Parts: sequence; C-alpha cells; structure tokens
Amino acid sequence: MSTIPAAPPDPRLDGTDIRASVIDLIGATPLVRLKRLTEVHEIPSVLAMKMETNNPGGSSKDRPALEMILAAERDGRLRPGGTIVEPTSGNTGVGLAIVAAQRGYQCVFVMTDKVAPEKIALLQAYGAEVVVCPVAVEPDDPQSYYKVAERLTAERGAFRPNQYENPDNPLSHLKTTGPELWAQTAGRITHFVAGAGTCGTLTGVARFLRERNPNIRIVAADPEGSVFSGGSGRPYLVEGVGEDFFPAAWDPDLYDDIIAISDKESFLTAREVSRTEGILIGGSGGMAVAAAVRVAKAATPDDIVVVLNPDSGRGYLSRVFDDGWMANFGFLTECDECVGNVLSVARDIQELVYVNPDHTVRHAIELMRTNAISQLPVCKNTPPFAAAEVSGAVDELELMDAIARDSSAMDTRVETVMGPKLPTVGIGQRLDRAISMLETSPALLVLSGGRPVSILTRTDVLSYYESIADVDDLPAGGGASG
Ligand SMILES: Cc1ncc(COP(=O)(O)O)c(C=O)c1O
Repeated sequence: MSTIPAAPPDPRLDGTDIRASVIDLIGATPLVRLKRLTEVHEIPSVLAMKMETNNPGGSSKDRPALEMILAAERDGRLRPGGTIVEPTSGNTGVGLAIVAAQRGYQCVFVMTDKVAPEKIALLQAYGAEVVVCPVAVEPDDPQSYYKVAERLTAERGAFRPNQYENPDNPLSHLKTTGPELWAQTAGRITHFVAGAGTCGTLTGVARFLRERNPNIRIVAADPEGSVFSGGSGRPYLVEGVGEDFFPAAWDPDLYDDIIAISDKESFLTAREVSRTEGILIGGSGGMAVAAAVRVAKAATPDDIVVVLNPDSGRGYLSRVFDDGWMANFGFLTECDECVGNVLSVARDIQELVYVNPDHTVRHAIELMRTNAISQLPVCKNTPPFAAAEVSGAVDELELMDAIARDSSAMDTRVETVMGPKLPTVGIGQRLDRAISMLETSPALLVLSGGRPVSILTRTDVLSYYESIADVDDLPAGGGASG
C-alpha cells in the first residue's frame, strides 16, 4: 500500500515475508476504530485512529525522514558517509537516525531543554549526538536551537533536512499517508484530524485527499497559545506540536477548522485513551483525539472521522503519565483537603500579583505594600502566564538588602536583584505536602492547568486553619447569628 521506495530486491527473499531492511517497514500503518471512546462520548459517526506508532521509529516522522534523505541523496546534498544535522524534538530524529543507520550517515540533533529526558536518551541510543539548548531564548538568539543547528551545519559541512522548510516533508505524507487513508477507508473518509507542528502531515494528507474528494474536511488540532490557532506563540507544555512561527507547509486554505486544545485537555485525553482503549498515546496524540472527539460528535452516522496518532505515550511516562508531575502542574486533584481549598478561604485577591523582569524595584515594593505581601513572582508578558514564563521571584528581605547596599537599586530593573523561582505546588495537591514545602520556603507558586495562578504563604495556611477552627467551634445546630 505504501509508495515509499523499497530496497533493491534480493532473489533469496522471493516468496518470503522478509523485508529487505527496516526502511521497508516505514508506512502502511493500520487504522483502528476507537470503540470504547465512541461509546463513552456517545459519538454517532465512525471514529478511527491512524496508528503511526506502528512505524519502526514509533512515530509519523519516519515517513518525512526517509523522503527527505532519499531526495537529498538523489540531488547530491547528502554524500556517502555524510553528516545530518537537525533541530528536532525527538521523533524526526529517530526517523533520521534509523534511515542514517541503514545508509551509513552520522546524525547530530539539536533540542530544547523542554524535551522529556527520555527522548534525549533515545536518540543517543541510536548512536546520535544530541545538543541541548535553552527554550527560554528568542529564536534569533545564538543559543536558540535553530541558530545552534545553523552553526553546526556550517561547521561540519552537513546536510540539514530542515523539516520546517523542506517540501519533501509534506510530500512524504502526500505520497504515503494520504493514499493509505483513502484505501483503508475505501474512499469513504469524510474528516481528517491531526496535530500541526511542521504542518507536513496535515498539508500532505490534505493535498492528496482533496484531489480525490474536494468535500473532505481537514481539521488541525493546535495547542492553546500556538500561532496556528491565533495565539501569540507563548509557551505550552504539549510537545511536538504548535509553533511560534508559520512553517513552509502551513497552508490555511486547506484547513476547514483549527481547534485550540489546552494542555490540560490534551494530557487528560491521552490518559483516557490509554486507559479506555488500551492504546498508549502521548500528549500531542491526546490533543488530536480531543479535537477529533468534538468533530466526530458533530458528524453524522455515515461519516468516517480519522484522527492521526503521531507517537506513543512511552516517551512521556515521566510527565503525562506521572501522577505527581500532573498534580504539581495543577492538572490533577489529589485529595479533598488541597491547596485550592486554602486559597479560596484565605485569599481575598484571586488573581496573581506579579512583576515583569523589566519593572523597577520601586514598582515591586509598591505592589508588595498595597497588597500586603512579602514575595512576588517575576513573570514575562501578561497573564495568563505559562509556567515557563516565570523567571524568578523577589522577596522583601532581598529587596531590603539590595537597597541597603546601594540606594540607587530603587530604580533598577527587578531582574537584576531577583532571586530564584519559588517552588511550585499544584492547586489540587495535598495541603500537607504544601506545608512541608513551606518549612523551607516562605512562599510557594501555585499552578493550575499548568499556569501560575497564585502565591501560597504560611499566613494563608494559618488563616485557613483559623477559619475551619471557627466553623468547628460553632455550637451544634448553631449558625451565624443575625
Ligand atoms: C509528537 C508529535 N506530534 C505531532 C507532530 C506534528 O506533525 P507535523 O510536523 O507533520 O505537523 C509532531 C511533529 O514533530 C510530533 O513530534
């Protein structure tokens, strides 16, 4: 079914089902109905998943990796024994590493520090070199992962596939994923839903399917905050999808709808699919399924909605599938007496009081005084913040010290005197955990849905206990007196 070129034939394999190499296992992935999810969500249409986990590298990225390397070999951009350099969050790296192993190339991968540590180990396991760069820098900063990749490519005379610009990326999906979907649904597919990163999958598949049936609906799923769904490109936690710029394959005329999905819904859906269907999927797969469920619910019984699952949940065990991590970011509630209860009782001001890194120390002091607080988080931009936008904290003791040493500190930028970030606690985490953290830190930053929403101090906990003690002290049957 797949049109990816096979290795040269060896007559000894004739009549066997032995593939010539692992490259011949790329593509032709199965389609499976999401039966249990259909029942739970009362979906009238047929909802099926394209299982890209069945590729040898475990993701949809094996397809563009192969196509980009074959094209580069054909036109001489990649020569025998050459080096491949690519900035990638992991999956494209695995695909390139697999094809490179078969065809004798070296690989160097450049990634941001947002990526799960097991993804780095995975690429190293294929023998690749991995260079990690900070995520919290501007794209044109020399430390940004795009710039580092540019420099390494020049230094090593390497081939850079550049999946964000390379037309062979969408072409791989036009040549393989699209035809597979058409054949597997007997030409009856009505809706295709996929996450957008480089937009290679969505655009390649859309170009093929539209040729066959101009009425097919193409739906992009996108993380809240990403530019595709109208965000400003500010950070989110789902990996591998969404962008802060428009890649070459972005073609909005092809997309009927672009649905923004929050980190929380993406992660909870990934967990739901894994548990209810027995199909372990990652956060970006959860995001695509969350969008597909909306599409499939609004579709008719005759419709066939296909969602593409790009990779497995195995790469995200320490995040999406770790209850502690999920609770710490405020995605899960651990118990009844949680941090959120304290905040609703003890805090008059419900929104986060913060300073920007370029605000003055004078401004920070004023805020502390008017709000009667002793610590402020330092956050970039304006609310609602992402956890990655918190750059530090200021504390009244630190400010006092700074000004005592140099009175002109009053008018300096907060970032020049700020201390480290406050420890974080999830809004649904157990209060006793927060209390033990408050033994070593005077305040905690509270996260809900992955975003900082408040500060929790020792005084807050005391006022909470005071208020429940007041309620407990009420005489039996007694209420507030009139
Ligand atoms: C996990 C994951 N999901 C989805 C995508 C998006 O696919 P595409 O880049 O073809 O838009 C990527 C891309 O890297 C990915 O790694």
